[in-house]
Amino acid sequence: MLRQVLLSASRSTKVKNLVETAPVTSALVRRFVAGDHAFDAVRATEHLAAQGLYATVDHLGEDTLDPAHAEAACVACLMLLSRLRDAGLARNAEVSVKLSALGGALPGGAALALRHARNICAAAEKAGTTVTLDMEDHTTTDATLETLRALRADYPWVGAVLQASLRRTEADCRDLAGEGSRVRLCKGAYRAPGFAAFTTRADVDLSYVRCLKILMAGAGYPMVATHDPRLVELAGMLAARNRRAPGSYEYQMLYGVRPAEQARLAARGERVRIYVPYGDQWYGYLVRRLAERPANLAFFLRSVAGR
Ligand code: FDA
Repeated sequence: MLRQVLLSASRSTKVKNLVETAPVTSALVRRFVAGDHAFDAVRATEHLAAQGLYATVDHLGEDTLDPAHAEAACVACLMLLSRLRDAGLARNAEVSVKLSALGGALPGGAALALRHARNICAAAEKAGTTVTLDMEDHTTTDATLETLRALRADYPWVGAVLQASLRRTEADCRDLAGEGSRVRLCKGAYRAPGFAAFTTRADVDLSYVRCLKILMAGAGYPMVATHDPRLVELAGMLAARNRRAPGSYEYQMLYGVRPAEQARLAARGERVRIYVPYGDQWYGYLVRRLAERPANLAFFLRSVAGR
């Protein structure tokens, strides 16, 4: 119930204005967001690299309704890629991209988002790294996978996120389990109606297990994006069962979430990549993180109340 309320709030402009102007805790934002600027993201990536961790960097922003903002989001990504390359971090860090930040949510915006995404992919290829398309709410899944197909024709290394919470995802995993395919499997952070999504945590977890089995048995590169200890353990078992060596799949976690577990897996020789968001458009991202864990919300409310 609380989760549903928070996920609605993540899309509410009224609540957004309230939270952004409240003496809202910068400590909480800092826990989950690397900073406002590209150099903050580069510094966080350097810090992770020093611990043997990889990064996927996200310039925060979503649901853009102005073509000029979409253009600015694309430019920010290009600038980020060149900074990562200049810092010698392109082997450690790729970028994650939300198509709605690139104009995908505008009327007829799919073509605009695809054009921007192509530019980002070209820059990533030049820098020697990759791009992964984030997955947003369930109404955008088809368009995102369509864009993925178009991009992969020229840049076969482009990856995408699939959400175990959606009923369709097992079939999408089968479609995308082939050679060269990079799939980041997560539980899903958006609200969706019962006809499209599983409605209980247990059903989402079971769906994750089914999807993970398909990806691990396939010929692609599974990216296991979860902090759930049971699923992390299962991923290791499935990797062993499918004779996958570390480096033929990877674990992924969010910046600021379970850092000790991130370090533990890396020390065991696993490849672990951290999702590093930066920028001042942190509201939607932060509220989704609050929705995932009531303890985060309590911390947030205490700091809003100034205690
Ligand atoms: P679950 O929520 O069950 O959490 C398991 C445990 O992890 C918790 O008990 C707690 O210990 C810890 N934990 C989880 N979230 C926490 C938090 N916010 N703060 C503190 N502790 C926390 N979603 C999406 O819809 N589209 C996308 O493109 C992406 N992209 C993405 C990339 C990467 C690299 C990751 C790791 C996740 C995403 N997600 C996402 C988010 C994902 O869908 C999901 O909402 C979160 O990962 C939380 O789900 P868990 O699998 O971690 O399990």
